[in-house]
Amino acid sequence: MTDTADPVTTHQAEDDARNEQILIWVNGRIVPKAQAMVSVYDSGFMLGDGVWEGIRLYDGRWAFLDEHIERLFEAAKAIDLDIALTPEQVAQAIFDTQAANGMQTDAHARLMVTRGVKHRPFQHPSLSRSGPTMVIIMEHSRPKIPRPIRLATVPHLRGLPMTQDPKLNSHSKLNCILACIAAEKAGADEALMLDVHGFVNTTNACNFFIVRKGEVWTSTGDYCMNGITRGKVIQLCRDNGIPVFERNFSLVDTYSADEAFLTGTFGAQTPVGMIDGRVIGSGEMGPMTERLRGLYKAMVAA
Ligand SMILES: Cc1ncc(COP(=O)(O)O)c(C=O)c1O
Repeated sequence: MTDTADPVTTHQAEDDARNEQILIWVNGRIVPKAQAMVSVYDSGFMLGDGVWEGIRLYDGRWAFLDEHIERLFEAAKAIDLDIALTPEQVAQAIFDTQAANGMQTDAHARLMVTRGVKHRPFQHPSLSRSGPTMVIIMEHSRPKIPRPIRLATVPHLRGLPMTQDPKLNSHSKLNCILACIAAEKAGADEALMLDVHGFVNTTNACNFFIVRKGEVWTSTGDYCMNGITRGKVIQLCRDNGIPVFERNFSLVDTYSADEAFLTGTFGAQTPVGMIDGRVIGSGEMGPMTERLRGLYKAMVAA
């Protein structure tokens, strides 16, 4: 039986003992998990200087792989990091890791590229001279949350683009981690973050949607990660005659929503049951969230 007080995360999966035996791609070598290491001088370890993608395998195919690889290269360009592989070679590395692990479905890959090993232990990027470090951790992963997620709003904001643009999927996640810690200390599972104007924006690890009177609302997108799942949900609404709006809205609109849900590659669409102690709708997954989950599943299968 699940204790409803237990913290639940949006990235929770069924326990799978096979994950102790997985093989990990490290700079072109595929090695057992226990031997998968990077240097203590690595730019990612020292400074969070890198970019990453989370990708999911459904029935033999990596969902929206081209879009994930494109976003990875865009982020790398933004931080002036040379991945030193072509997009096709990055895709091949994913396929090689999948084949080595014999994975067919229900797997999740975290693909990370950092500025590599530093010559000396200091910040300046010119000290990273040996080329990038790339790692692919691929785990057996079937998302499983025992109940809808509880969120708490926190003082940590989704900032302006000139202070670490929230559109960057960077290794430096401290703002999101502090937000998540604050939410946990407030008795919730994860954090709901506002933008610099106080409008509801996103959570520490996923994009955020509400449903009001048959309409689906999400933030303008100005201060959040350009989630691929977010984009797919908006597209699915448009294709299926569901009114969808990218707009500013506040906590007042949010507390009285009929439903709320999160989107992300890991969990697809995750229902939200409570925000700041207010039950959202019935507190369970609502009909629109369920419908969008079905439409998304069909889209991935197609
Ligand atoms: C802050 C944040 N928001 C949203 C997302 C979801 O993005 P996607 O749907 O592309 O997985 C992520 C995942 O990387 C994220 O880190």
